[in-house]
Amino acid sequence: MSKIVVIGSCGVDFTTYAPRLPKPGETLIGNKFTTSYGGKGANQCVAAAKLGGKTSMICRLGNDQWGDKYRDNLEQVGVDTTHVKITPNVTTGIAQISVAESGENQIVIVPGANNCLSKEDVKNSADLITNAEVLIGQLETPFETTLEAFKLGKGIKLLNAAPARSDITEILPYCSILCVNEPEASLLTNTEFDFKNAVAILKQLLDTGCESVIITLGPEGAVYMSKIDQQPIHVFSERVNAIDTTGAGDAFVGALATYLVTYKDKPMHQIIGAACQVATMSVTKEGTQTSYPRKFDAFKKDYKYALL
Ligand code: RIB
Ligand code: NA
Repeated sequence: MSKIVVIGSCGVDFTTYAPRLPKPGETLIGNKFTTSYGGKGANQCVAAAKLGGKTSMICRLGNDQWGDKYRDNLEQVGVDTTHVKITPNVTTGIAQISVAESGENQIVIVPGANNCLSKEDVKNSADLITNAEVLIGQLETPFETTLEAFKLGKGIKLLNAAPARSDITEILPYCSILCVNEPEASLLTNTEFDFKNAVAILKQLLDTGCESVIITLGPEGAVYMSKIDQQPIHVFSERVNAIDTTGAGDAFVGALATYLVTYKDKPMHQIIGAACQVATMSVTKEGTQTSYPRKFDAFKKDYKYALL
């Protein structure tokens, strides 16, 4: 049985690279185009698998030109695809991504087959979900399905509440770890994130019923607080020259899962620091899954952190 189970999205990323992001109504000349495998769920699963995690993916693909190819891609990195379902009469999820020279991006997704991921799929994979050491969900597939899976899971339940949305309160009491970025944290708490109010935001998120919260801050690392020890911390990250930040959050989530399983007795600042290190490595390369490090043990380093 896989230790890390991801229920969520798969999508083909059509990415253009241009000097900057286009303004509304503007046509820009870009300098590169790539087609690659993405989608937050699959990105997280692949990030975990590439680091040596034993992973399974529960998802839906379309029966178009991409479905079979996408499944092969997952198998190539060692993901168990028993619960990857090709669905008739729908397209595989896609994302149109623009990346600027600064590393910033803009994304429009069309979920397609991802919208077909159902409670029935949860039922069919109930054994896998119940036995998972880490169950990971996001918000690119139907919410009721993720909720159903989180109700079943008995291990660590890690929700990456992305893309941002506010109507997810029902699932939060089932989350062992809620992982969000700054805009997602701001939307969930109705408060603009700032270092000055980081602790208040962490507390507000803990009050929703989840056991712990991680807010990822890109080059600033991440802040963390859990109900058990109550001491909020800020874990620092290495500064690099970002080329493409797409999927860096997914690299963080996947790495976090692998390191949580591998280093059970290690302090949380070290696990978060190692996951930040993997995300940092991913932004120095173009693309999402292709930019995630393989068999990289970020635990060789000691990560700096501060009490908040
Ligand atoms: O988080 C990055 C991912 O978001 C991309 O791979 C794209 O597919 C979008 O879903
Ligand atoms: Na990248």
